[in-house]
Amino acid sequence: MPSHVPVLFRETLAALEVEQGGRHVLDGTFGGGGHTRGILEAAPDNRVTAFDCDPEAQARAEALQAEFGDRLHFVSANFDELGDYVQASLDGVLFDFGLSSFHYDLPDRGFSFRFDGPADMRLDTRRGRTAADFLENAAEQELVKAIRDYGEEPRWKPVLRAIVSARGTGKLQRTASLAEVVESAAAARHQKASRIHPATRTFQGVRIAINDELGVIERALPQAFEVLRPGGILAVISFHSLEDRIVKRYFRRLAGQPEHGRDNRPQQERLVQAELLTRRPIEAGDEEIELNPRSRSAKLRVLRKLPL
Ligand SMILES: C[S@@+](CC[C@H](N)C(=O)[O-])C[C@H]1O[C@@H](n2cnc3c(N)ncnc32)[C@H](O)[C@@H]1O
Repeated sequence: MPSHVPVLFRETLAALEVEQGGRHVLDGTFGGGGHTRGILEAAPDNRVTAFDCDPEAQARAEALQAEFGDRLHFVSANFDELGDYVQASLDGVLFDFGLSSFHYDLPDRGFSFRFDGPADMRLDTRRGRTAADFLENAAEQELVKAIRDYGEEPRWKPVLRAIVSARGTGKLQRTASLAEVVESAAAARHQKASRIHPATRTFQGVRIAINDELGVIERALPQAFEVLRPGGILAVISFHSLEDRIVKRYFRRLAGQPEHGRDNRPQQERLVQAELLTRRPIEAGDEEIELNPRSRSAKLRVLRKLPL
């Protein structure tokens, strides 16, 4: 039975100050409910409103509801729509982006080339296009964006050519044959330079593209900040530099700081709406990394909304 180990668990609960009790927190990425459970167990009067767009998360949420009753409210929707569901002024919002172990461990979801399965890769299987459909039909510029920009694949040109010439052959339909197509084009350099499987970057890029993983973060962060009460806390865990860059820049903007090296707007034009509680992101220690290798790339950033 697959399970998911929450990353930076103690650090996240401490950041959200949930042991003080009486907290209503929005968990935008319910997953296996590890963080949600921690929040609910931290004090008997804490409440959680949780989101997950993966339809399979619903059953896991129901199992937790059997334990915690109406202290847990679950919404089976994308967190980029959270503003449509939540009016409350919340004490905290948490995002723990990306996939859960359930996704990688279930062959039929198509996220992993460790097993053969349909090349699906949608987080929300009720809508959107599958990876196979994207690879068969997307305009070349969209493929470049996925493989070069989101996957950061250095051999994106040969990979792109291999994918385009595999169109119509059926090879893009299954994870195993897709991984072979990518590997044959990406392998030469990776074999010397890297320990990761040559298809890893392309799989990541395609996944980010079809789920619009960066777009949903850009749209969700302002909504999350909006539903926080003054003094409320926003805690965000990201797993790769493209996600973290969006979070870092947004946090800096809210704190009235330059968003990046080329941002030279005059200081008096900046509005200070939040206090950064992490100047540098919190990362997992050696012990956690050893127990849960997925935590190696996790970065937790936290801010507090200031009264206006
Ligand atoms: C890393 S897991 C979260 C794990 C969770 N914190 C725990 O302790 O079990 C990320 C979860 O967020 C969900 N997710 C990813 N993007 C989403 C989005 N845009 N809207 C809603 N849920 C999303 C995924 O389906 C996945 O279940």
